[in-house]
Amino acid sequence: MASSSRPTATADDLHADSGIESTPEISQIEHNQNLDAGSTWTASLTSSIQHFQLENGRTYHSYREGKYSIPNDESEKDRLDLQSTLFSLTLDGKLYLAPTKNVQHCLDVGTGTGIWAIDYADSHPEVQVIGTDLSPIQPTDVPPNLQFLVDDMEEDEWHFHQPFDLIHSRMMVGSFKDWPKFMSTAYEWLRPGGWLECQDVDSLDCDDDTFSMNPPSCALARWWSVVCEAFDKIERSVLAAPNHQKCMIDARFVDTREEVYKWPINTWPKDEKMKLIGLWSRENTLEALEALALAPLTRILGWRKEEVMVLVAQARKDVMNPEIHAYWNIRFVYGRRPPAQTE
Ligand SMILES: C[S@@+](CC[C@H](N)C(=O)[O-])C[C@H]1O[C@@H](n2cnc3c(N)ncnc32)[C@H](O)[C@@H]1O
Repeated sequence: MASSSRPTATADDLHADSGIESTPEISQIEHNQNLDAGSTWTASLTSSIQHFQLENGRTYHSYREGKYSIPNDESEKDRLDLQSTLFSLTLDGKLYLAPTKNVQHCLDVGTGTGIWAIDYADSHPEVQVIGTDLSPIQPTDVPPNLQFLVDDMEEDEWHFHQPFDLIHSRMMVGSFKDWPKFMSTAYEWLRPGGWLECQDVDSLDCDDDTFSMNPPSCALARWWSVVCEAFDKIERSVLAAPNHQKCMIDARFVDTREEVYKWPINTWPKDEKMKLIGLWSRENTLEALEALALAPLTRILGWRKEEVMVLVAQARKDVMNPEIHAYWNIRFVYGRRPPAQTE
């Protein structure tokens, strides 16, 4: 386990592994986050980290610039919070499925707006919670038992003061190159008996003949197909979740379990709960169309912005069409590090 020290991001770190070239359409803008003096961010933030990359009208993280291909601006923050409501509806208000006990320290990996970490810290005031992310887009007014850190969780070494009883990651497919490495590092940073839970989107699916991915039956299917292709090309697959359970087992986790839920793309289901989930999912999917495609298709597949926007506009019509009975699979996978005596 690495020695404990607070992760600090220096200006030298920035641009070190940039994946994107500077073009006239890309510039840096200052992120106006109001950092109060008591903020847990203050120690770890350099001003460079707050200068987000502006590209084709959206902003992207600048710490380890170019690594993560989805924006970090207000629209994306709103989408992440909306998506959090979808998770809550799916799990009837629960934040996780792992049967944890006596948790003292919890880590939320890739915390985004920090909404899961805030909800967890609020509902578990006895637990010390840390949320990490490449982007400093979390609020400063948070529960006293919660700390946010700018950190790259793909680093070989993690830097924390203590191990965790629960490590949680949500919607991180497309972020990590090496899931087996992530699972092994998480294992090392769990106390014996502690749990890892990964909640991720999986495939876009359909059980009747109103939608098909193979061959793509409509613009929405074409959109998902090229998004998958782009993330595949940079070896950060958005289809990694079906391997999560095997990865956990290979990393020596025990008592692993997988549960798969559905998010209809719109209000097509008859069932009231699924219709409600579909309502929220429709808004989420509409917002995701541009967010998930713009940088991947332009940066990685060489599309022009206008070409992306045409496909997004066509796919929007499919998302709004209740005759298309497609749904997202959402996969919850959890497992625990064996208790000390059985390791
Ligand atoms: C789709 S968002 C999910 C956010 C949050 N978990 C949620 O469910 O609302 C993925 C987040 O992972 C972060 N991320 C991506 N790669 C990362 C890395 N290597 N280390 C830390 N955070 C990362 C991104 O900045 C982004 O905020």
